[in-house]
Amino acid sequence: MQGGFGRLFFCLFRRTCPVTTTAIVSALHEELAAVLALMPDEQQQVVGGRTFWRGHLHGHDVVAVLSGIGKVAAATTATVLVERFGVQRIVFTGVAGGLAPGVRVGDVVVAQRFLQHDMDASPIFPRHEVPGYGRASFDADAALTAQLARASERVLRALPSQLGPEVLNAFELQTPRCHQGLLISGDRFVSTTAESQALREALPEALAVEMEGAAFAQVCHDYGVPLAVVRTISDRADDAAHVDFPRFLREVASRYSGAIIDALLTQR
Ligand code: ADE
Repeated sequence: MQGGFGRLFFCLFRRTCPVTTTAIVSALHEELAAVLALMPDEQQQVVGGRTFWRGHLHGHDVVAVLSGIGKVAAATTATVLVERFGVQRIVFTGVAGGLAPGVRVGDVVVAQRFLQHDMDASPIFPRHEVPGYGRASFDADAALTAQLARASERVLRALPSQLGPEVLNAFELQTPRCHQGLLISGDRFVSTTAESQALREALPEALAVEMEGAAFAQVCHDYGVPLAVVRTISDRADDAAHVDFPRFLREVASRYSGAIIDALLTQR
């Protein structure tokens, strides 16, 4: 599209059909690699010490980035995505530790709500309430979350049989399920049965625990940007939480995330 006529047509098209830029945020290098492998034309830009990858994925304008680990790193990444890259929606993929009884390794949790389990300004504010907001939890975007849940369910039906019997047996992945509900975040990798039990008692509705989702949710609430988060369950946040973690990331989680993003962006 070199000529003046082509450029004029392109400008008119962009004005009448404004492009929605989608941020694809991965918690792990392995997941980001799976997303970048789907992008034919990505170009990198470094902002705030983070590498952002701009390009296209199935015709969608996309910015892909690692979230960083923990709530502060996640909040900075979310803010840069909105302020500098002008993204209009954010989709986050990662792993989490299962908390609720039926949430098993290999299942997927699509968040409907987010809460910081380590937020505690009591007795000045009720435990878990975020001061200044009058609330403890933030919602995911309902429409984007419904799309992400559909994409996740599609992947869960197809992918386990492609992982191979050795991986399936190692992680007991025969019948993975997709759960929707409360996801909790805090600046701790929860790796003892005592701590996960304490979280279950304090927050009985929580399905799973991770370290970034609620920070993204608060920033997205501040800017009015739709957010959807999917987490593959990598462990049960108990005394065995660390044992198979690297292998799970490599052989299962990154393949789930790549396939879920692929399914989301090809959905009609
Ligand atoms: N991400 C994956 N597993 C986790 C756990 N057990 N605690 C916090 N974040 C996690």
